[in-house]
Amino acid sequence: IVQYLADYRPYPFILSETRLDFTLVPDATRVKAILSFAPRDSGQSQDLVLDGGEEVKLISLTIDGHEPDPAHVTRQDETLTIAATALPDAPFTVETEVEINPMANTTFEGLYMSGGMFCTQCEAQGFRHITFYPDRPDVMTTFRVGIHSDQNVLLSNGNLIGQKECGTEWYDPWPKPSYLFALVAGNLVAISDSFTTLSGRKVDLNVWVRPGDEDRADFAMESLIRSMKWDEEAYGREYDLEVFNIVAVDDFNMGAMENKGLNIFNSKLVLASPETATDGDYERIEGVIGHEYFHNWTGNRITCRDWFQLCLKEGLTVFRDQQFTSDMRSAPVKRIMDVQTLRARQFREDAGPLAHPPRPDHYEEINNFYTATVYEKGAEVIGMLKRLIGDDSYRQALDLYFDRHDGDAATIEDWLNVFQDATGRDLTQFKHWYTDAGTPHLNMVEEWSETTAGGTLTLTFTQNTPPTPGQPDKPARVIPIAVGLIGPNGDEVLPTQILEMTQASQGFSFEGLGARPVVSALRDFSAPVILTRNIDDDTRAFLLANDPNPFARWEAGRELAIAALVALSQGQPGGDSYVKAIGQLIADDDADPAFRALCLNLPGDEEIATRLSTLGIEPDPDAIYQARQDLARRIAETHQDLLARIYDSMQVSGAYSPDAEPSAKRALRIAALSLLNRIDGGERAEILFGTATNMTERMAALTCLIRRGRGQTALQILLEQFGDNRLVMDKWFSVQPMAAPPESAVATARELAQRSDFDWKNPNRYRALIGGLSANHAAFHARDGSGYNFVAEWIMKMDPVNPQIAARMSSVFETWPRYDTVRRAKALVALEQIAAVAGLSRNTREMVSRMIAAG
Ligand code: ARG
Ligand code: ZN
Repeated sequence: IVQYLADYRPYPFILSETRLDFTLVPDATRVKAILSFAPRDSGQSQDLVLDGGEEVKLISLTIDGHEPDPAHVTRQDETLTIAATALPDAPFTVETEVEINPMANTTFEGLYMSGGMFCTQCEAQGFRHITFYPDRPDVMTTFRVGIHSDQNVLLSNGNLIGQKECGTEWYDPWPKPSYLFALVAGNLVAISDSFTTLSGRKVDLNVWVRPGDEDRADFAMESLIRSMKWDEEAYGREYDLEVFNIVAVDDFNMGAMENKGLNIFNSKLVLASPETATDGDYERIEGVIGHEYFHNWTGNRITCRDWFQLCLKEGLTVFRDQQFTSDMRSAPVKRIMDVQTLRARQFREDAGPLAHPPRPDHYEEINNFYTATVYEKGAEVIGMLKRLIGDDSYRQALDLYFDRHDGDAATIEDWLNVFQDATGRDLTQFKHWYTDAGTPHLNMVEEWSETTAGGTLTLTFTQNTPPTPGQPDKPARVIPIAVGLIGPNGDEVLPTQILEMTQASQGFSFEGLGARPVVSALRDFSAPVILTRNIDDDTRAFLLANDPNPFARWEAGRELAIAALVALSQGQPGGDSYVKAIGQLIADDDADPAFRALCLNLPGDEEIATRLSTLGIEPDPDAIYQARQDLARRIAETHQDLLARIYDSMQVSGAYSPDAEPSAKRALRIAALSLLNRIDGGERAEILFGTATNMTERMAALTCLIRRGRGQTALQILLEQFGDNRLVMDKWFSVQPMAAPPESAVATARELAQRSDFDWKNPNRYRALIGGLSANHAAFHARDGSGYNFVAEWIMKMDPVNPQIAARMSSVFETWPRYDTVRRAKALVALEQIAAVAGLSRNTREMVSRMIAAG
């Protein structure tokens, strides 16, 4: 059944209080609920519809203490309806008792068990698997929760108000929707600290982990404290309860969840030590701890009216966590990395059968819309707003947003109205960014004319957004284009200006210039568009050497690399300019190591394939793989000495720290290693694997060794050392199919899938292996269809167990229409095979049918 935004109706009842009482037993948990309702309008005579999954067993039901006539109660697959005739036209209380089986819950949605502990995941619609309830985000109320269990730590949202043997009671004074409910019961230990807020309130902080993991939780705690401080400084947002709890669990479908006062995290986003986690892991932990904490205001205090508005909280919270990371680390590096992810995941989504706007207007299964478009493009849209109105106006608008909507379940219209009211700007046209799918293509043409008064440069931009499913015509959007001009001697003659494009085609002139400048366009990636311009390699190399805007500099180098790879993958010559320019750049010891590392990393196969298909060329995965290998080898051969010098000099001594500076050195060192590895037979990697004491360098060395076909010993060592560490073993499972040569990767993955420690029901382990293989572009897209078949088999196997994970994995097929007829046919067979499975979940069915429809 398709849900439509246009069908939104307020819930006909007001819920003023929720009381829950849990008696936790692994296979027979009892949940009592007391819900205090009142009709929204008197005399409305509406049925009371409560959501509830079919596995929720109703034990008893009373209305104001009386059992209703069974004829007035209807149980359907996912609802329980009490007829209007059985309800008073006045406030009333519904009391239910239900039984559920957390142990049998393999979906990790609702109440389930992970490693012996009870935990919950209720966003988006998990609460209905716990009890009967109006499970929608616009029904908000206070929760009082009792927990009875023999586990030693019993947690829920809000403040602890009662504690006795085998029981605790929690009260959350902040009205919230059911998706923010959480409960945890387990034998856990905490690392604890405290934080004093701006106004002087002391908050107890705990990070709860399993005994034995407590020495790997410090960084998470430090990150939490930094987040709390940052939100006060950057947004004036204070925390609002006596306690903030974080719990790490091993079985978790997503990254983490912002439940009020009780965030639940995938353990990989909490636990870290230098021996087990990479620099990248540390950075993600800091970012996600921040993300979930920032949701306390953008998501919890102000939530979403309905799930179509998901990007209201996610886009804004991603934007905020990006700002946080920029402030904690290097802003330009963060921007470059975010743009790389955006292009790899969101542009790819926008260009294929799964394209949808940041605010969709229909869906079948909301869990399929926790996407790069809702999250990352949702954040980009806010970045554009801020760029258009300026930092001060942005801050004023946000103050107004918090003021006006605190306690509300809000919409994108509410959000835009705040900006309109704060700035006086009409945002009607800007709104297309929220409602229209697809990535605009933006072309820039330069025209130079000279008169006696000086030169005039005219930039003419033309925008065009290709059609997406269900949206054939796209009106012009507002596009903020950040432009700077650089004189022939390398000096900036015009600092960054924001050109505000509103028409399909529009010119901007710069007068009174001396000599013809070089244009630095779309600085900082000021809008999520695909920019094309007529530019030669020399000009790109000039920008790479001279552009004062770090993003634009990096972009110039990236474009050189992509142009080379596009040519090489089609059997044409290319790459000389890039190889030369990169040599100059990395030789500059004054340049930021992080920046040099970013420039040295070649675009991935997937990115090259995407570029080819944007240019209207069918990508050939084998040719792309070969082109990339060849170019990397050429760089290594040409700059052998330079790279060796970098590799030696970027060694970090002393105790490990995940901070930006040492991480940057390691990143550059590893980038040099992976190039040298192509010509030194794996010697350096072998030594590094044996001597490095941090996981960043060890993983890099291992990857290199596998690429050289000599990873076996290192893999065995890692297995012996960390066989009982799930997070390290996840890396072990993913690196093999990912780094294996394309011709053997599927066989490697099949072999690994046979292992007894391939605990595939664990989402991290499943994603490590199946996702690892699909990230190997040439292997997943093997011409014989073996990659497609392997992944399809595992989607079908996962679907009845955990539909969310299966559906999510299926999106690896989203690019299928862009390949050649042989591959297309094989991918389509795989998709049709999945679609033909009897009893396929709603989640996977929706994904697969959207993808098949593109054929
Ligand atoms: N709100 C969470 C976050 O982004 C994500 C939870 C999504 N869960 C899901 N089952 N779709 O922080
Ligand atoms: Zn979020």
